[in-house]
Amino acid sequence: MTHLPNTISGVGRSLRDDDLALMRHLLDADGYVYLTGITDGFDYLAEVSRLGPLARQYSGALVRDIRPAPDIGNDVYSASNTRELTPHTESYEFEGIPPRYVALWCVRPAEGPGGETTLADGHRFLQQFSADDQDLMRSRVYEWRSSPSLASQGVRISARHPILEPHDDGLVMRYSNQDIVRVDDGLLPRYVDGGRQFFDANKRAIRIERNAALIWDNWRMMHARNGFGDRSRHLRRVLIATQ
Ligand SMILES: [Fe+2]
Repeated sequence: MTHLPNTISGVGRSLRDDDLALMRHLLDADGYVYLTGITDGFDYLAEVSRLGPLARQYSGALVRDIRPAPDIGNDVYSASNTRELTPHTESYEFEGIPPRYVALWCVRPAEGPGGETTLADGHRFLQQFSADDQDLMRSRVYEWRSSPSLASQGVRISARHPILEPHDDGLVMRYSNQDIVRVDDGLLPRYVDGGRQFFDANKRAIRIERNAALIWDNWRMMHARNGFGDRSRHLRRVLIATQ
């Protein structure tokens, strides 16, 4: 991790004003920032909410624990087991504008190989598409669904959105490798399959260590997870709405 760009080290017990300014700059410039050297007493919710108001998760809670659940095996696609996750942006299946930022921090890293969070710049992926394609991405509406595995927890959500949605604070991009209802309209297969190829060719793998946090711009970055073996891996996630 020492060679990861966009690292702010020595964060300590709270974010200094200059750290916060640098965080905003790095999020604007590159879409993500990694904080290290966090010490006991750091109030994650209070500190990350300096970027914007916290948004509720599926459960209604502000924090989601991400760790393997004893009753969820690797036969289903789920964040609650140890499988690889495919690239996506967060919360495409909800009505309204998705959270601007996602913050992940580590309670317990996976021992052994795997478990890295992976990120790639979706706005750079968009450069592969013509202006006409991008116009269609703004106007054509697709159906986005929650992951089938969430149905076992009573979560069944779908929403209709375009791929791109202009907002006063920037351009919202949505992406899912598997939870967008596929139609062969000459555009969507190039977007979904091309996005997977772009992600695999360009992703950066970040192993979130203890006392560290990774924050990214969810309107811009695609993210995923490498599979892992250690079932004691435990991260926490918060979602931050646009201000
Ligand atoms: Fe995710």
